[in-house]
Amino acid sequence: MKRALAVYPGSFDPITNGHIYIAECASAIFDEVRLSILVNPQKRSTFSVDERHTMAQEALSGLPNVTVGHFEGLLVDYLRQQNSQVIIRGLRAVSDFEYEFQMALMNRRLAPEIETFFIVTDPKYSYLSSSTVRDVFQFGGPVQDMVPCGVFRRLRERFLSRLPGTG
Ligand code: PNS
Repeated sequence: MKRALAVYPGSFDPITNGHIYIAECASAIFDEVRLSILVNPQKRSTFSVDERHTMAQEALSGLPNVTVGHFEGLLVDYLRQQNSQVIIRGLRAVSDFEYEFQMALMNRRLAPEIETFFIVTDPKYSYLSSSTVRDVFQFGGPVQDMVPCGVFRRLRERFLSRLPGTG
């Protein structure tokens, strides 16, 4: 079965090397992958949608069939607008599964024609999430190997003045 466009949704606040791994795997399977950032005015984010968009675009520039977009509201409505029938989600650990399973079943209930594809992460990224990267960085921990260099630079710009020992 041909699956032209797969949507990889998430908060990506910010994108990490774990997300990039999932995008790479998806790009090898699907004709086109659109990493799609949820715009959620109710949720406080560290980076604006524009910043997250730019960071993701920079990080994925080496993958010609991966594009970056954003959406508001229901994910399945966005997929229908985009004429896509595939949701990509990454799985890191068993603990992800319950939430992901519930979301996949809810999305299937809302839109039976849309299928969720899970891609299992590389074990070296199994502990990685945007929130842990932000936390570790804010307390002075080394995160260079966990995020693309553009993200590392923006984390420094955002948090440098607040790091311990920097006044
Ligand atoms: O990276 P995240 O925060 O785990 O991504 C969660 C996301 C954006 C995929 C999910 O919250 C979502 O799809 N939100 C849009 C609203 C929606 O469609 N909800 C129904 C699915 S339960």
